[in-house]
Amino acid sequence: MSRPVIVFGTRNPGKLREVAAGLGEVARVQGLDDFPPVPEPVESGASFAENARAKALAYAKLLAPHLEKDALVLAEDAGLEIYALDGYPGVRSSRIADDDEVRRRLVLAKLHAGGYSDEDSRRARFVSAMALVTGGEVLAQVEGEVEGVIAPQPRGTGGFGYDPLFFYPPYGKTFGECSLAEKRAVSHRAMALTVIMDFIRKNLTEE
Ligand code: IMP
Repeated sequence: MSRPVIVFGTRNPGKLREVAAGLGEVARVQGLDDFPPVPEPVESGASFAENARAKALAYAKLLAPHLEKDALVLAEDAGLEIYALDGYPGVRSSRIADDDEVRRRLVLAKLHAGGYSDEDSRRARFVSAMALVTGGEVLAQVEGEVEGVIAPQPRGTGGFGYDPLFFYPPYGKTFGECSLAEKRAVSHRAMALTVIMDFIRKNLTEE
């Protein structure tokens, strides 16, 4: 079976870890570190989908001189949405502060300020939007999500970003307390990736 080359456009090691193993089943995966440095595309869209698409197209253009023929570029925009806070931090999930710990504190402070202390009012979801591009063309655009509850304080050291705050009721623990395999069985990123992998198997691999 011939497998396409896919460059996953991220500098986030947590995302790379969660995507590389699965995607490796259907494609030869490369990361940005396999290429000369390129600037990070600006994320100015109003939705995760818009940002994922813009990121994939921008990386495809920036990397074009170095890409193998027919190589594809995959990009993701992801984030946390808290229902009681009208979707905050949403598309700005990575930008409300400079580091993960401060971002987590900000989220907890907002919930505290709003008096959102019971489980029901702290419901949230993670969203992952992915776009698969070749040349200037978007071949597939998908989304995955997972529902959870914002914990009163961070728990666990696994994963990245908001994972220690994201309590997943079916597991009875936060994503920060989960193994990579546990998170990959249910996460927003894994759901989006499953659809991308199906698309690749059906359309881009040759027996
Ligand atoms: P992006 O790199 O612009 O897609 O921003 C993603 C940001 O959303 C990250 O910096 C995290 O703060 C948050 N985020 C997205 N997915 C996850 C996840 O799986 N776990 C924890 N935080 C996440």
